[in-house]
Amino acid sequence: MTVTTKVDTARLKQLDIDHMLHPRTNLRQQAQGGPPMIFEKGDGVRVWDTDGKEYIEAFSGLWCVNVGWGRGELAEVAKQQIEQLAYAPTFFGLATPPAIELAAKLAQIYPGPVNHFQFTSGGAESNETAMKIARYYWSIQGKTDKIKIISRMMGYHGIAMGALSATGMPAFWQHFGPRPAGFLHLSPPYAFRRAGDLDEDGFVQMLVDELEQTIEEEGAETIAAMIGEPIQGAGGVVVPPERYWPAIKEVLDRNDILLIADEVITGFGRTGSMFGVEQFSVQPDIVSIAKGVTSGYIPLGAVGVSDTIYEQMLEPDAMFMHGFTYSGHPVGCAVGLANIDIIERENLPENAREQGAYLLSRLEELLGHQNVGEVRGKGLMMIVELVKDKQSREPLTGIAGPLLAATRKRGLIISATDMGVSLSPPLILMKEDSDQIVDALQGAIVEVFG
Ligand SMILES: Cc1ncc(COP(=O)(O)O)c(C=O)c1O
Repeated sequence: MTVTTKVDTARLKQLDIDHMLHPRTNLRQQAQGGPPMIFEKGDGVRVWDTDGKEYIEAFSGLWCVNVGWGRGELAEVAKQQIEQLAYAPTFFGLATPPAIELAAKLAQIYPGPVNHFQFTSGGAESNETAMKIARYYWSIQGKTDKIKIISRMMGYHGIAMGALSATGMPAFWQHFGPRPAGFLHLSPPYAFRRAGDLDEDGFVQMLVDELEQTIEEEGAETIAAMIGEPIQGAGGVVVPPERYWPAIKEVLDRNDILLIADEVITGFGRTGSMFGVEQFSVQPDIVSIAKGVTSGYIPLGAVGVSDTIYEQMLEPDAMFMHGFTYSGHPVGCAVGLANIDIIERENLPENAREQGAYLLSRLEELLGHQNVGEVRGKGLMMIVELVKDKQSREPLTGIAGPLLAATRKRGLIISATDMGVSLSPPLILMKEDSDQIVDALQGAIVEVFG
C-alpha cells in the first residue's frame, strides 16, 4: 500500500545533506546524496516514507518500538502530562507522581530484590549510572581500589565514554581514544565461531575459566562489577547457553563482584519474558533499562539497584552526586507507565515468545542457502548470520549496503552488518507479518548472493 504524502522529499533530502550530522553513518556517502529514507508515518508494524512507500518495520527502529507504531493513548498521556506539568527535576529530593509511580512499577515487575530506581534519558546514560553506582557502592565501604569493570567482546553498551569502554566492538573505539582505563573484555558466549570442537558444557566451562583466570590475575579487590546483556544484541544476537549466566554469577558472587544486567534491548518483553534475565534464571545486582520502557515514543532510561546496594548507599550522610537534568522526566515517566500497561494488558511477552518461535522457524528455511551460516535468536530478537561458505564459516565484507538496498526495495526494514541481518520487530507481530518478512528477506538474499 502507498499513502498520499504532502512532503517535498527532494527538498528534505537536500536539507538533510546540508545540515544533518547523522549518527553511525558513512558521512561522506551521505553527503554525496546517499540513501536517506525519510519516514513520515507509522502504524502497527508498518511505516511509510515521504514518497508514500510502505515498509514492514522488522527492527522496531533501533530494537525499541515494542508496542508498535501509532498508539494514540501514549500521545494522549504525553499531552496531558505536558499540559499539567511539563517538567520538574528529581534532584534534591524532588519528584512528580509519574516518576514515583514508574519507579514503583519497575520495582514490582523487575525480578528479585531490585527495588530502587533512578531515571536517565537513554541506554548509555543508564550504563554510565550503573557502573558509577557499582564503584560508589565499594568506595563508600572504603574499597576505593575496587573500580574495574568486566565486559565482553561483541557487547554493546552505548557510546558515552564509560559505556564505550565497556562496549566490546572495536569499530566504535577507533578515532575516539584514549578510552578510560579499567575495562576488561572477556570472550562472548558466541558458540558459532568460538566454541570449536567443544560441546555446550565444555564451552561454558571455557568461558567460566577465563573469568576465573582474569579475576585471579587482576585481583578481585580491583574489580567492581561485570556488565553484560542477557542476550548480546547489536554485537550479533548472541544467545548464551542456558547454563552460562548462572555459572558466571556463581564466580562473581564468590569474588564479591557485582553483576549489572544491561537490559536496554532485552527488557519489556523482547525475549519472550518481561526481562531477559528471566530466560536464564540469573539475578543481577543492578539493571540498566531504556528503549522498550517507553517503546521509543519518548526518550527514557532507568537503573535499578538491589535492596543490599540501596541500604549501603544510605550509609554516608552525604549527597549522592550523580544525576541528569532529565532524570525522571515526568512526560517520559507518564508515557513509560502507559506503555508498560499496554505490554501487560496485551501480554506482549507471550506474543513475542510465540511469534518469535514461528518467525525463527520460518527463517530456518533460509539455511538451505549457501551463504546462510546460522539462524539464532530468542523471542523477537534474531539474526540470520551470513558466511562466505558453510564449511569455513569465513565472514563476509561489504554486504550491509547491498542487503539494505535489496530489503528496502522489497518494503522490508532490517538491520544489516557484515555479520548478517538482525531482526527485532514490534512485539505485536502476527504470523502473516512474519511470512512477509521471510519472503522479502529470501528475495533480498538471492538478489545479493545469487
Ligand atoms: C544493550 C544496549 N545497551 C545500551 C545501549 C545504548 O543505548 P542508547 O543508544 O539509548 O544510549 C544500546 C543501544 O542500542 C544497547 O543495545
